Amino acid sequence: MTDKKLESILQEDRQFPPSADFVAGTRLNADSLAALHAAADADHEGYWAGLAREELQWDQPFTVTLDDSAAPNYRWFTDGELNVSANCLDVHLATRGDKTAIIFEGEGGDKRRLSYRELTAEVCRFANALKSQGIEAGDRVVIYMPMVPEAVIAMQACARIGAVHSVVFGGFSANSLRDRIRDAGARMVITADGGHRGGQIVELKAATDTALAQGCDTIESVIVLKRSDCGCDMQAGRDTWWADAVAGQSDTCEPTPLNAEHPLFLLYTSGSTGKPKGIQHASAGYLLHATLTSRWIFDLHDDDVFWCTADVGWVTGHTYVAYGPLAVGATIVMYEGAPTYPDGGRFWSICQRHGVTIFYTAPTAIRALMKLGDDIPAQYDLSKLRLLGTVGEPINPEAWIWYHTVIGNKRCPIVDTWWQTETGGIMISPLPGATATKPGSCTRALPGIQADIVDEAGESVTQADQGGYLVVRKPWPAMLRTIWGDNDRYVETYWAQFQNRFYVAGDSAHRDNDGYFWIMGRIDDVLNVSGHRLGTMEVESALVAHEKVAEAAVVGRPHDVKGEALFAYVVLRGDRPTGDAVEPLVKELRAWVGEELGAIAKPDDIRFADNLPKTRSGKIMRRLLRAIASGEEITQDVSTLENPAILEQLRGDD
Ligand code: PRX
Repeated sequence: MTDKKLESILQEDRQFPPSADFVAGTRLNADSLAALHAAADADHEGYWAGLAREELQWDQPFTVTLDDSAAPNYRWFTDGELNVSANCLDVHLATRGDKTAIIFEGEGGDKRRLSYRELTAEVCRFANALKSQGIEAGDRVVIYMPMVPEAVIAMQACARIGAVHSVVFGGFSANSLRDRIRDAGARMVITADGGHRGGQIVELKAATDTALAQGCDTIESVIVLKRSDCGCDMQAGRDTWWADAVAGQSDTCEPTPLNAEHPLFLLYTSGSTGKPKGIQHASAGYLLHATLTSRWIFDLHDDDVFWCTADVGWVTGHTYVAYGPLAVGATIVMYEGAPTYPDGGRFWSICQRHGVTIFYTAPTAIRALMKLGDDIPAQYDLSKLRLLGTVGEPINPEAWIWYHTVIGNKRCPIVDTWWQTETGGIMISPLPGATATKPGSCTRALPGIQADIVDEAGESVTQADQGGYLVVRKPWPAMLRTIWGDNDRYVETYWAQFQNRFYVAGDSAHRDNDGYFWIMGRIDDVLNVSGHRLGTMEVESALVAHEKVAEAAVVGRPHDVKGEALFAYVVLRGDRPTGDAVEPLVKELRAWVGEELGAIAKPDDIRFADNLPKTRSGKIMRRLLRAIASGEEITQDVSTLENPAILEQLRGDD
C-alpha cells in the first residue's frame, strides 16, 4: 500500500443482535466475553497459560509459557508434554465412549457411524500398523485421501505416535502431490484406490503411482484404502491394502507423550510465488486454540450435530473436522462428495436426515446454492439448525442475508470467521451469544488475539473506515511455527515488512465505528484506480447485490490513465447473455455499481460467463482472471480447474 489511503466505500448498516434464546443457553455471553478480554489484555501470557492448564490434559505440565528468545519463531508451553490424539479421544472414553463421534455419508449414499470408543480403537489399530511399518515420531506421512472417516483416523493415528502428517487435498494433481512429498521428505503415503465426487471416481492411487514414478526417493511404503471399485495397481514390497495393514493389530496403542512444540502437521498453501509453502504447526498450542474456538464459537453442546463441510485437505478440515470438535467431544458429520450431487438439495438433505444443528461452510458454496433458487432448501426440514458459520473469504451481504433468511429461517446467528492456514484456528469472529452481527463483517478478534490494522509505517489505523494491513500484534499459541525447510521465507513473508514487530496476515481490512473488522481481501487483490485504493471484494459484493447477479469476480488490469482499471467477470442467475443482450446489461450493472459504491468503482469491463474459474476447493483463480483481463498468455497451471471449458467465455471468444 502506498501513502494513499485504502478507502472503504461499502456501507452496510444492518445489525443482528444475538437472540434471547441463544444468550440464555450459550457458554459465553457478553459479560463472560468481556471478562476474558480483560484477563487477556491484563496478562497475555497468563491468560493463555491458564487456559492451557484448564483445557488440555498434560503428561508433563509446562512451566514456561512463551519462549520468545528466537522471535519471530515463537514457542509455547515449551517444557510441557502431551498427546493430541489422547486429548481428542481417550479423554472422552469414560464419559462419552458410546456417543457418536462421526456420522459419515458417502456420495453414493452409504452411511456409517463411529462412536468415540470405535473411533479410538480404529485409530489405535492404524497407529500400530504405522509403527509396524517402521514409522516413528518426527517422520512425515502424506495423506492423500477422499473425505472418509479413514482420513481422520489416519491423521489421529499419526498424532498418536508423533508422526507429522501432511494432508494433500484429493483434488490436487499427481504433480502437486509429488512436489509436496519431495518438499516434506515423506516416508509414507496413505491413499485410497479412488474417491467419489460429482458422480465420478477420482483415482487417487493411480495419481499416487504417477507421482511416485517421477522420483520420490524418500517414500518407502504406501497404504491403500479400498474405497471404490475402480481397481488399481499394487506394487509388491511397497503397497499394502489398509485392511491388511490393520489386520491382527491391537486396538490399544498407548499415546506417545510429545513435547508441546513437536510438529503436529504440515499443510501446504499457496503463496505469492509459484512454490507452495509447507505451513508447520506445533502440537499443544494448536490443540488449545482448536479446542477453545470449537467450544466458544460453535457453542458445541453434547446434543449438537456439527457439520463443517470443508475437506480435510484444507486447514478448516483439520481444525474443525479432525481435531477441534473431537477435542470437545462433539458429534461431527463427514460427507464425501460434491454439494450438488445428485442435485442441489444434497447439503440440505444431509442436514435434515442427520439432524445437523451447526453448519459451517464457505461463502462460495452459499452463493452457488443460492443461485439454484429458494425452492430447493424449502423442500427440506432445516428446523434443527441453530447456528450457521462461514469461512474462507468475505461473504457479501446479499449471500449473508440469504443464508440467514432461507437457511437459518432468521433464527440462527451467523458466525463469519476470519482466519488462515497460518493462524491454526479462528482469530476474528462473532461469539453467537454475545456479539451483534453485521452482514459481511467478521466483527471482533477473540480474547487473546491482538488483531490490529496498521498503515504503511506500521502505525495503528484509528480512523474508522480507513483501510490498512491486518496484523496480529502478539504471538498466540496456534500460530504457525515456520515454513517447512525455509525459515527465511517464514520471516520474509510474515514478519519482515514491519521489522518483526507483528504478524502480517497479507489481508487488507478496515474497522467501522463500532470497531468491527471488515476484511477487504488479499493485499494483492487491492487495486489502485485513479489514485483511489479499492478492495476488489467490495466491488464484487456490490455486483452480487444486484438481483440478476449470482457471482462476480473483479480483478485489475493495467490502464494508461487510471493506473489500474476494474475488470469484472459476472455470472448471472439466469442464462448468460449473448449478442445484443450484452450491452444493456453491462450498462445496467455499471450504473448499479456506481450507485452502490460511487462512480470510481464502476468496472471498465464486464464479461459474462456461465461459471467462474475455481479450484476444486472453490477458490476463484484470480491470477488466471488477471492474466485474461490483461490479455496475457496463460502460463498458469489450469489442471485444477473444475470447469476448463469456460476459459473461452472468459476470454470473450465465445
Ligand atoms: O483472505 C483471507 C481469507 O482466506 C485467507 C486464508 O486462506 P486459507 O489459508 O486458505 O484459509 C481459509 C480457511 C481458514 C485469508 O487470508 N479469509 C478467510 N476467512 C475469511 C477470509 N476473508 C474474509 N472473511 C473471512 N471470514
